[in-house]
Amino acid sequence: MGVMKVLILPFLLFPLIYAADNCPTAKCGGNDFTIRFPFWLEREQPRNCGYPGFNLICNGQGMTVLNLPHSGDFFVRSINYGEQVIQIYDPSNCLPGRLLDFNLSDSPFMAAYYQNYTLLSCPSDHTISRFAAIDCLSNSTNKTLSTTSTRLAVSMTMCKVVVTLPVPVSWPNVYEDSFTSDLTDDLQLTWDVPNCEDCEARGGMCDFKNNTSREISCFYNPETGKGRGLQVFKIITLSIVIPAITASITIVCFICLVDARRQSGGITTTLQNSTTAAVTLQPTSLATGLEESTIESYAKVVLGESRRLPGPNDITCPICLSDYRAKETVRCIPECEHCFHADCIDEWLRLNGTCPVCRASPSLVHGDS
Ligand SMILES: *[C@@H]1O[C@H](CO)[C@@H](O)[C@H](O)[C@H]1NC(C)=O
Ligand SMILES: *[C@@H]1O[C@H](CO)[C@@H](O)[C@H](O)[C@H]1NC(C)=O
Ligand SMILES: *[C@@H]1O[C@H](CO)[C@@H](O)[C@H](O)[C@H]1NC(C)=O
Ligand SMILES: *[C@@H]1O[C@H](CO)[C@@H](O)[C@H](O)[C@H]1NC(C)=O
Ligand SMILES: *[C@@H]1O[C@H](CO)[C@@H](O)[C@H](O)[C@H]1NC(C)=O
Ligand SMILES: *[C@@H]1O[C@H](CO)[C@@H](O)[C@H](O)[C@H]1NC(C)=O
Repeated sequence: MGVMKVLILPFLLFPLIYAADNCPTAKCGGNDFTIRFPFWLEREQPRNCGYPGFNLICNGQGMTVLNLPHSGDFFVRSINYGEQVIQIYDPSNCLPGRLLDFNLSDSPFMAAYYQNYTLLSCPSDHTISRFAAIDCLSNSTNKTLSTTSTRLAVSMTMCKVVVTLPVPVSWPNVYEDSFTSDLTDDLQLTWDVPNCEDCEARGGMCDFKNNTSREISCFYNPETGKGRGLQVFKIITLSIVIPAITASITIVCFICLVDARRQSGGITTTLQNSTTAAVTLQPTSLATGLEESTIESYAKVVLGESRRLPGPNDITCPICLSDYRAKETVRCIPECEHCFHADCIDEWLRLNGTCPVCRASPSLVHGDS
């Protein structure tokens, strides 16, 4: 019986989600995200299916295209309706080139944050290993590099500063002195109007109230199932996903905890060779851990799709050794800018008052910035 239900439910749900409607949920060729209010497909749907400026086009190759009034066409990678984020990229794979005259005015979209990037033109015969050249803006004589550190840009005397640009990023680099050089990520833009975040969070879908009004409201129409189908779907998804997430968090935390304790207990083990493993796992340095309020005062950031971290950090959490993923929360230690999964570092700091990275190799703290 249970198996039957699981098999049948998807077939019941999809007709509910895609129920008859003047503006049915659409998709464009090879893309796997749906296009619905406030977005609409310019050539296939009537104008009143969406908000002005949210018009998209399916091109001949099945790609979803967003046209920004002053910056031209971009391909859409994904749309997150719940968080009101659209992720776009340059069709010809030269985002830095597009950023040279990027202008969001007259479009409903904005950057979550801006970060100034300086573009440098350097002689090609100079190898600067720290930065990857932007290939599409480089040639045989001049390489173009980018950095967020003006200090560093100015110190590179063999290069010429081309321009300093405000670049839309999904979260700001809070550390003045650190730099990121990578400009290859997608752009993530957000919108304020129409605001459907609450509606989406409750499992509904926004739409115009009626065909003569610009006012929006949240629909959970049981007949078309527009909202309800999604809600049922969400409930099912959540009932599977939440236990899975809870289980993995528990496992990761447990691993972090064990690692942290093992490391903090490391010296004890070498000094007292006869101590058993059980003793090693005792939180020997509990007394040197930080107060919860101190830990809470350290900056916490939710990673965007780009998973870009501030400061001298790479893509792997040094504590649990798993790669950072979008939407994970990281916490950074203000003194040295080293970041970790919040779950991992919180657990560590409760046991140890020091940064796990610098304590292991203090030269890393200043070596990278
Ligand atoms: C963006 O375009 C608008 C309209 O053309 C213009 O008024 C504005 O100055 C531009 N902004 C930038 C930063 O170039
Ligand atoms: C970027 O640079 C401009 C001009 O120097 C400055 O006014 C602006 O505040 C900077 N923006 C950020 C986010 O640092
Ligand atoms: C390109 O490189 C040449 C030779 O290294 C140099 O003379 C020239 O100024 C550079 N151009 C730019 C725009 O940096
Ligand atoms: C290479 O690019 C620079 C600008 O970055 C330009 O000034 C130069 O003329 C180009 N050189 C060649 C050989 O195309
Ligand atoms: C609005 O909807 C009504 C009923 O659904 C329809 O009769 C009318 O033509 C529509 N008006 C416009 C402007 O689309
Ligand atoms: C459409 O909605 C507006 C605003 O809620 C309302 O004043 C108007 O009477 C509605 N029109 C129809 C045809 O339902």
